[in-house]
Amino acid sequence: MKPLSSFFPPLSLFLSLFFLTFHGSTGQNLIENTCKTCSKDDPNIKYDFCTSSLQAAPASECASLRGLGMISIRLIRYNLTDTRCHVKKLLKEKNLDPYVKRCLKDCLELYSDAIPTIKLAMKSYNAKKYYDANIQISSVMDAPTTCEDGFKEKEGVVSPLTKRNDITFQLSAVALSVMNLVKNNG
Ligand SMILES: *[C@@H]1O[C@H](CO)[C@@H](O)[C@H](O)[C@H]1NC(C)=O
Repeated sequence: MKPLSSFFPPLSLFLSLFFLTFHGSTGQNLIENTCKTCSKDDPNIKYDFCTSSLQAAPASECASLRGLGMISIRLIRYNLTDTRCHVKKLLKEKNLDPYVKRCLKDCLELYSDAIPTIKLAMKSYNAKKYYDANIQISSVMDAPTTCEDGFKEKEGVVSPLTKRNDITFQLSAVALSVMNLVKNNG
């Protein structure tokens, strides 16, 4: 029979990792641990996308878990604003296929509506109204999906927004997942 003590190192390692993750560590370590947990919890979240997005954000190195939540919501906001601007520019192009033009107009509306919603989500998150923030971010998450689906409905049409839609979708998944951790960790 194995000595009982051999069971303890893994357990204590696990416990200390857990406490280190959510109760003290900041910066690189916190981002990596948070993204590890998020990508395990949600198959939509890719670990590399999560870490590179959060690491590239200003001040993320010094952020707490709660701070990372806000950083991820802010990233969505920047991306929404940037994509909205990009769609406007695409719509100005001459000789646009009428079907593509219609899709782009729908996307412009979806992204335009998502911007005030993400601002509300920031307010909700700041006020620790996680239930409201969850609904708001989930609704923002529909914008890239609905936008992308429009292009898919006609054969032969290529969406010029696939990459941007994917980024907005993934950032929203990250924000929802981080927020879930924040909610459960104080
Ligand atoms: C949108 O998010 C991606 C992924 O995190 C990031 O690389 C990009 O810089 C963001 N765009 C803006 C305008 O913030």
